[in-house]
Amino acid sequence: MTKWTANELPDLTGRTVVVTGAGRGLGLITARELARAGAHVVLGVRDTGKARRAVAGLPGIFDIRSLDVSDLKSVRAFADSWSGDLDILINNAGVMDIPAARTADGLDLQTVTNYTGPFVLTNLLLEYVTDRVVHVTSQLHRQGKIDLTDLDWRRRKYNGMRAYEASKLAVVLFSLELQSQLTAAGSRVRSVLASPGIARTALAAHSRSNVVNRFTFLTNDPERGALSVLYAATQDVPGNSYVGPDGLGGLRGYPAVRRQGKAGLDQVMAGRLWDATNELVGAVAS
Ligand SMILES: NC(=O)c1ccc[n+]([C@@H]2O[C@H](COP(=O)([O-])OP(=O)(O)OC[C@H]3O[C@@H](n4cnc5c(N)ncnc54)[C@H](OP(=O)(O)O)[C@@H]3O)[C@@H](O)[C@H]2O)c1
Repeated sequence: MTKWTANELPDLTGRTVVVTGAGRGLGLITARELARAGAHVVLGVRDTGKARRAVAGLPGIFDIRSLDVSDLKSVRAFADSWSGDLDILINNAGVMDIPAARTADGLDLQTVTNYTGPFVLTNLLLEYVTDRVVHVTSQLHRQGKIDLTDLDWRRRKYNGMRAYEASKLAVVLFSLELQSQLTAAGSRVRSVLASPGIARTALAAHSRSNVVNRFTFLTNDPERGALSVLYAATQDVPGNSYVGPDGLGGLRGYPAVRRQGKAGLDQVMAGRLWDATNELVGAVAS
């Protein structure tokens, strides 16, 4: 048991961090704590007014910018407007078990929010990243199944939970492939995974899986859930580490380096997924 808490965050003065989806939930706690430790925190959010109100009065330097990770135009605009070092990029924004919907780009809303949008954002911002990219995934990646011929749920009947699990496995494979490309290029930048376990936020409010949140002895409060993200963002862990709660099943507890599911360590699949995703977003761009 590590019992690591946000009180042990290093001094982050002079460092710039982007946290996506930081207007509420785990993203807001992550942004708050990183700013308290001295970082200049950029909140990439859909509703800038709500985010501004959320951080009003909190100590630290916050910069609130418009970003809808499900909208590739918005993702590109956010990246195009970036200049200067970006020490830590935290891909936190996410949705869970939502009904089938297509974005303006024609993409599956859940998949693009959790995986494809962050994939594009990361690739566009990578040249500015000096320290690491943190991908917020889920223990549910262990149940994930990816169909490379139908990444975007066009052929198969859509299922909200299956799409969530697949998107979070895609995030784990993205981290694997990104880390291997960074290592091959001799880069010191790291790709790190964070799993909050189960944290009682609004994420699953509309989902049948929300029933788990009633069992508080099984779950983390949001403050503790965010610790995995904070640990992954700031501690000296090896590239492609999977940071998650140290308790039973990785569902609650304090952050520790754990092991991702076997499917998340398949390097061949990770390379194929990278190519298939590039093809998908290339088709949107053209
Ligand atoms: N809570 C858990 O138990 C748990 C477990 C495993 C993984 N996670 C992951 O942790 C991350 C944060 O979840 P949470 O628990 O904090 O949930 P949450 O309270 O529902 O927060 C989700 C955040 O994502 C933002 N978001 C959603 N779609 C977006 C988009 N298209 N563009 C930009 N931002 C968007 C939301 O912004 P709006 O305010 O604009 O809606 C909100 O700030 C997610 O990736 C989730 O999958 C959570």
